[in-house]
Amino acid sequence: MMTQYQEKATVIRRERFSPDNVRLTFDCPDIAAAAYPGQFVMIRVGTGNDPLLRRPFSIHQAHAEGLLQIYFKIVGRGTEMLAEVGEGAEVSILGPLGRGFRVAENPACLVGGGLGIAPLLFLARTLSRLERDHARDTIILGGRSSSEVEPLVKDFEQFGMTVVTTTDDGSYGRRGFVTAAFSTHSLPSSCTVYCCGPEPMLAGMSALCRTRGYSCQVSVESVMACGMGACLGCSKPTPSGGYVHVCVDGPVFDAEEMVWNI
Ligand code: FES
Repeated sequence: MMTQYQEKATVIRRERFSPDNVRLTFDCPDIAAAAYPGQFVMIRVGTGNDPLLRRPFSIHQAHAEGLLQIYFKIVGRGTEMLAEVGEGAEVSILGPLGRGFRVAENPACLVGGGLGIAPLLFLARTLSRLERDHARDTIILGGRSSSEVEPLVKDFEQFGMTVVTTTDDGSYGRRGFVTAAFSTHSLPSSCTVYCCGPEPMLAGMSALCRTRGYSCQVSVESVMACGMGACLGCSKPTPSGGYVHVCVDGPVFDAEEMVWNI
């Protein structure tokens, strides 16, 4: 059992990249020190003890000095409440949870769509510590429009990796989906591909990687009520006819372990 903590974390910074896109930085030393890329936390939004007030957020960055970041979009009451939490306020965070990316030594291609960009920053930082030529590593970031991609590009550029950006509407980077950018980008033959984003994108990436013989890991989005394997709300079927819980068996899986319902 991996060590998990429930911490009272202080919000030390709130950044609003657009009316809907928010990044929060917490002082949260135990979880930050234990986390690895691709894991997530459950954050209690609002007061009271209702477990449904906890929402899952992928870990955007975790620093050894104790800082933990999440990056999210306001999509409803819970995220709206969280976006309003002021600097200096405390929230309860549980984590780190789940199984994250398995970092491989070979050249990497990170592919993120929409909010799927969030956990890739932590992954890119971790990969950047491997001693090798990072110009052979590629990061492909896509979103619907500029506000989903542009605010984070500088953070991704700091590692010396090749950064490619796309937007559906062409307002930033190439016009089109990340799958199209991936198809036309030349990558080393022994590449490991790490993906996070909506299911149609993951299905597309998984098919492309199979064709090209790349090993592919996918971080799967799911509704999560408990985050700890207790509610079965996050189960997904596997090719062998069984099922997995995204919260404890994932959220990161080998693409071949997934059945795509699209
Ligand atoms: Fe409850 Fe996974 S979220 S079992």
